[in-house]
Amino acid sequence: MSHNTVEMNRQRHRFDGRESVWLFGYGSLIFKADFPFLEQRPAEIRGWQRRFWQGSHDHRGTVETPGRVATLIEASGANCKGMAYLISPTVFEHLDFREKNGYLRFLTTMTFDNGEHAEGLVYIATPENSAFLGPAAERDIARQIANARGPSGPNDEYLLRLADALRALADPDPHVFEIERHLKTIPGPE
Ligand code: SIN
Repeated sequence: MSHNTVEMNRQRHRFDGRESVWLFGYGSLIFKADFPFLEQRPAEIRGWQRRFWQGSHDHRGTVETPGRVATLIEASGANCKGMAYLISPTVFEHLDFREKNGYLRFLTTMTFDNGEHAEGLVYIATPENSAFLGPAAERDIARQIANARGPSGPNDEYLLRLADALRALADPDPHVFEIERHLKTIPGPE
């Protein structure tokens, strides 16, 4: 599967007559909400874990030096915390472009902090997309992140801002925090 998913996403869901749709964000969509929303609520989705297994050629890296960004991997018993946004379906035009490097929209059930549920959409980069990098040790992921930058900025900014956002959500994600710990031991450019 190509890593440009704009056209595929356009054809995936019909929003006929819908005024609003819930979107669940677990990566940069938590700390960079560059789109209008009607409501924002901390939420989680069950059976998924966050992993820095997706390559980024267009935002936080380049084709020559891809960065690593978050995707979700199925894991029974795991919960992934994030931020849910109630948005107008028209916002997907912007989001599909932003998430075009391998992410497809999937239907999911999210659970809000008060236990209420809602159906909505989540962008996931699955192993079938050609930008997928897959597992690596947290220390190696940190090294790759330390060396990558792209049009949206340095890759380490993505990781560090996500770690801060997860602390604010009281979600001590061991994978993200371990990468952060290694990243902080790597000297920056002179
Ligand atoms: C998300 O944040 O939900 C998707 C991945 C990303 O844009 O970082």
